[in-house]
Amino acid sequence: DTGGHSHFMAKEIYEQPAVIDQINRLYRDRSLLDQLFSLDAARIRRINFVACGSSFHAASVARHWIQSMSGIECTVHVASEYRYEALPRIYPGEVAILVSQSGETADTLAALERLRRLGMPVIAIVNESGSTMARLADITLPLAAGPEIGVASTKAFMAQLVVMAHLSLHLALRQASPTITGRLRDHLLRLPALIDAALHNEPAVIEAASGLAGVSSALFLGRGPFQALAAEGALKLKETSYIHAEAFPAGELKHGPLALVDDAMPVFALAGSDDLRPKLASNLREVTARGGQVHVIGDRESMLSMADVASGMMTVPRAPEFIRPMVAAVPLQLLAYHAACVRGLDVDRPRNLAKSVTVE
Ligand code: F6R
Repeated sequence: DTGGHSHFMAKEIYEQPAVIDQINRLYRDRSLLDQLFSLDAARIRRINFVACGSSFHAASVARHWIQSMSGIECTVHVASEYRYEALPRIYPGEVAILVSQSGETADTLAALERLRRLGMPVIAIVNESGSTMARLADITLPLAAGPEIGVASTKAFMAQLVVMAHLSLHLALRQASPTITGRLRDHLLRLPALIDAALHNEPAVIEAASGLAGVSSALFLGRGPFQALAAEGALKLKETSYIHAEAFPAGELKHGPLALVDDAMPVFALAGSDDLRPKLASNLREVTARGGQVHVIGDRESMLSMADVASGMMTVPRAPEFIRPMVAAVPLQLLAYHAACVRGLDVDRPRNLAKSVTVE
């Protein structure tokens, strides 16, 4: 039942405010995160994230949060590589965090088994509570997003970000003042309303998607944590619309990808962090100077400073920097959804893909 929406993907995108609310309630009670004390959380020195696809992108955002808030070193690995990679020496205080919607992804499970053999404690962040990953991990943190039917992950990706935001705050308690972490936790409480407001900007996204009907290639750019959002936007677009989409850290543009830019290729730019905005704007001027069409995804304030480079804008409500990655995810999801619709494709079941990748 798509609950009055045309597709499960749309239903799941619109469920996100309720999902976040649910997670906030679940993690307000500290007992879930206090499980980390069984690993001696005060001694966590390095975190190795392991995941695939969208879950990998969510982990890539969390790396920025954890490193900036608690100074714990984080690495992020694609599971299909990590399971075979020569691993450096494991240090005391080193843990792995596996992120998965299904909890059945073959490569992530293989990485889990390997890590357990090596004796590294494994925390799993999983949506399917009865899954193999949830069962085998030392500690499981639930996503509580409810069943996700659309093959392209939307609400589970959002749930991963929110759960890892709570986790980041928990780890930050070791060094940040409770006043600061308390204020950041309040931002998470405001998030459902901000996501709701971002959903109200759907008409601007529909307009941008209508321009993708005959497009064969698109670029996504971001900096800092928004680099991972750019990667997620590109993945979502290629999955649902079969448009070739690639993401780059905006500063990498002139090291090669700029050669691709012409007036036939839309460029989507995530204007997320205030500090990096002038840098991003100058990267984007390189695009417009070559006839490229730039669509900026950002709040009104960032739009003002990008007005000279943007030929299209998908405005999101202004949010505290900590939770901006979640807000930015909304137009990216809607863009992939509407691009698939205008191209007449099977939104919920893209060709060649399975919801749960249980083979290597
Ligand atoms: C993208 C998508 C996939 C999954 C990936 C990992 O929309 O759905 O990239 O994110 O296959 O799956 P899980 O999270 O179930 O391990």
